[in-house]
Amino acid sequence: MCGIVAYIGTREAYPILIKGLQRLEYRGYDSAGVALLNGDLNVYKKAGKVVDLEAYVGAQDTHATMGIGHTRWATHGVPNDCNAHPHLSYSGNLALIHNGIIENYESLKTELQRRGYLFQSDTDTEVLVNLIEEIKKQEGVELEDAVRIALNEVVGAYAIVVMEKGKEDKLIAARKGSPLVIGIGENEFFVASDASPIIEFTKNVVYLEDQEYAVINRDGHFTLKTLGNVETTPSIQKLEMNLEAIEKGGFDHFMLKEIYEQPRAVADALRGRMSASGGWIKLGGVVEYEKRILNADRLLIAACGTSWHSGLLAEYLIEDVARMSVEVEYASEFRYRNPVVDHEDVMIAISQSGETADTLAAIELAKERGALIYGICNVIGSSIARVSHAGSYTHAGPEIGVASTKAFSTQVAILTLMALQIGEAKGTIPTSRLREILFELENIPAKIEETLKLNDQILEIAKTYKDATNFLYLGRGVNFPVALEGALKLKEISYIHAEGYPAAEMKHGPIALIDENMPVVILATNRSAYEKIVSNVQEVKARKGKVIAIVNKGDRQIKGLADHVIEVPETEDILAPLVTIVPLQLLSYHIAILRGCNVDQPRNLAKSVTVE
Ligand code: M6R
Repeated sequence: MCGIVAYIGTREAYPILIKGLQRLEYRGYDSAGVALLNGDLNVYKKAGKVVDLEAYVGAQDTHATMGIGHTRWATHGVPNDCNAHPHLSYSGNLALIHNGIIENYESLKTELQRRGYLFQSDTDTEVLVNLIEEIKKQEGVELEDAVRIALNEVVGAYAIVVMEKGKEDKLIAARKGSPLVIGIGENEFFVASDASPIIEFTKNVVYLEDQEYAVINRDGHFTLKTLGNVETTPSIQKLEMNLEAIEKGGFDHFMLKEIYEQPRAVADALRGRMSASGGWIKLGGVVEYEKRILNADRLLIAACGTSWHSGLLAEYLIEDVARMSVEVEYASEFRYRNPVVDHEDVMIAISQSGETADTLAAIELAKERGALIYGICNVIGSSIARVSHAGSYTHAGPEIGVASTKAFSTQVAILTLMALQIGEAKGTIPTSRLREILFELENIPAKIEETLKLNDQILEIAKTYKDATNFLYLGRGVNFPVALEGALKLKEISYIHAEGYPAAEMKHGPIALIDENMPVVILATNRSAYEKIVSNVQEVKARKGKVIAIVNKGDRQIKGLADHVIEVPETEDILAPLVTIVPLQLLSYHIAILRGCNVDQPRNLAKSVTVE
C-alpha cells in the first residue's frame, strides 16, 4: 500500500525522503514522488520505482530543508506520472500526500469543478488538496483549520501530510483509518506511515490517534488535536525496533532472510509464554479474559491471506485440543453478510501488519455486536492491536518481504499455545499429553533450523519445475492449510497458477487436471492419515503427475512412489505445519528467483492492504 515520508528540520530533506521511500518500498507501490519547499514548491514524481524517480530528478535543484514523499499503490486512476503523489492544488500553493481512499470524492470534485477548479489527475487525492485550498480562501482560515474542516467533510480513510508555499515553518499531518507516526529529533521532525523511514534518525515517536491531526513546527514543537478541534496530550514512545531488523543482513532478499529467521522468530513467540519442564502455558490475554473465552459459545476467527491460513489451522488445533467450536471467516466476506454475532462470541483477529482494512472492518462489526476481540498481530501499536480488548503479539520482528513467511509460523506458534492453554483450562487435554506436546514445541525452532538445511535440494527441485504453468498442493488435516499457504506463496511471487486442496478432495474435481505436466506437492507427514496419503500419491502417479512429497525423515513407502521426496524432521502431528511450511516457502522463493521475479515486491501486491 501507499507509503508516506515527510521531513522538516535543518538537514537537506531530499536524501532523507529518498531513503525513506526506499525503506517503504516493501509496502508495494507503482509510482513515487517528492515535493520540496524552499521558496518555490517543486514536485517531482514518476511512475515506476524510487530509482526511476531519482533518475528523473537527476541534477535538478533539490535544496530544501522540508519536504514530503510518497509511494503510491494505485486505487483511483492508473499508475502514471500524473496520478503519482504529491498532488498540488490548483493554484500550486499546497502540496499533499495521501494514503487511503476518499469515498465521496466524486461529489466533492463536481462541486469544485463548478467553482472553476481544473483537475490534472484521476485521483481522489487531488480533490482533497483542492478542497483544502477552497476552504482556505475564506478570510482568516489558516492551513491547519482548512485541513480540519476539509477532513470533516470527507468520507473515507486517510493519512495525509500537507505543506504550503510561503509557510516554511510547518507541516500538517492527519489520520483516520491509516496509520501515521511522527519521529521527534533535535529540532527536526519526521512523519511516516510506519517507523521504517524514521528508525535511523530517532527512537522517539508519537503514533497519531485515529481522527487526530498534528501541526508540526520547524521551531521544534508540535501540537496534536482531534478533528473536533480539541487539543490532546502526545504520548511519546520509544521505538523498540533497530535498523538491522529492517535491512537484509547479507541475504539477497528480505523474503529469504525472513524464512531463515523463523527458528529465532518462533522461539521469540514462545519465550516466556510456556515451559515444558514447568508444564505451564501463559498467554497474558487468555489469562485476563479466561472466563469469557472459556464460556464463549464459539470462537470466530477473522483474517485475510496468509493470516487466514493460520486461522484455518487454528480451527483444527482448537477443536482438537480444546473441544471448542471454531468458525474461520474471510474478514472481507464477514462484514458484508450480516453474520450472526453476539456478546457470547469471542473473535480472534489475526494480522501481521495489524492494519488490514478488511480485518479492521470485521472487528468493528463484531465489537458493535458485543463480541470480545482477541488480536494476534506482529506490528506493535498497530490499529488492530489497539482496537482489540486483549491479544498477543507474535514478536516475529519487522516483516519486509511482501510474501508472509515468519508471520505465518509465529502466528501458528501463538495459536498453538492458545489451543493448548484453553484445552488445559477446560480439562480437555490430559496433563501428560500436554507436557509431551510442550516438550516437542520447545524443539520446534531446532527442527525448523534443520529443515532449512534442505535448501540446496529444494533449489534443484525448483530448477526442474520453474517453467511449470500450474501446481497443485495437497494436504490433510493440519497440513491442508499448509497446502493453501504453499500455493499462495508460489502464486504471489512467481505468478504460476497454484491451488491448494485437501488431499482427499482431489478426486472430486482437480484430478482432471493431472497429467505429465502437473507438479503436485503433497504434504505427507501426518502419521494419523498416512495410508490415505499414500493412496493420494498413487492416484497422482497413476495419471503421470509429478509428485514432490514432503515426508518425515526416514520415510520409505512414499520415497518409492514420488518423483522427489523432501525429508523433514518428524514431530507431533499437530505441530507439523511449523516444519512442513518451510520447504514450501523455499520452493516458491527459488522458483520465483529462477523465473526472474521480484520476490520482495511482487507485481500488484501491497504488504499491508489498508483499503477494503
Ligand atoms: O497484515 P495481514 O496479516 O493482515 O495481511 C493479510 C494479507 O494481506 C497477507 O497475508 C497477504 O496475503 C500476504 N501477501 C501473504 O503473503
